[in-house]
Amino acid sequence: MQDINYYLFKIVMLGDSGVGKSNISTQYLQNVFNVESKSTVAMIKIQLWDISGDEKYRSLIDTYCSRAMGALIVYDITNRTTFENVEWWLKEFRRSYIDPNNVVIMLVGNKTDIADRRQVSTEEAKSFAERENLLFMETSALCATNVEEGFTNVLTQIY
Ligand code: GTP
Ligand code: MG
Repeated sequence: MQDINYYLFKIVMLGDSGVGKSNISTQYLQNVFNVESKSTVAMIKIQLWDISGDEKYRSLIDTYCSRAMGALIVYDITNRTTFENVEWWLKEFRRSYIDPNNVVIMLVGNKTDIADRRQVSTEEAKSFAERENLLFMETSALCATNVEEGFTNVLTQIY
């Protein structure tokens, strides 16, 4: 007989309006994982929280982020302002969390399918992520590129 442990991980999607959070979330519908270690099978279920990045919802951020075990902070690689605002989202998330060292945060540069309009280089984002101790990945929600890999990375780090 195997023991089965169930884990529920809350992950929040953060970032400016229009960067692709909802598209990444729906792209990632298969949300139950099997992680085997020794004789224990762990079922991991992700609870993905996706709210609008619009300013009128900003008063909800604290409640929204509370007890999250991970965050994806998304920017649009073709819109520099959304990258510059990552710092603000990071500050908000870290502020609303009790122990900011115990959560996994991934910086996500979305819309690589339109990289011909790129305004943020991979190198720049990568070095920002290293400085801030974040995981980093570029994705395309449209083409489903790296979306699953991104979540798997975050889950592996939490678990
Ligand atoms: P809010 O809910 O307002 O905070 O925005 P959001 O971050 O959820 O953005 P959403 O997923 O609604 O996407 C915004 C727009 O970007 C839509 O028109 C999407 O079709 C487009 N979009 C999202 N992801 C991609 C992508 O990977 N590539 C391209 N080319 N367009 C994308
Ligand atoms: Mg949305």
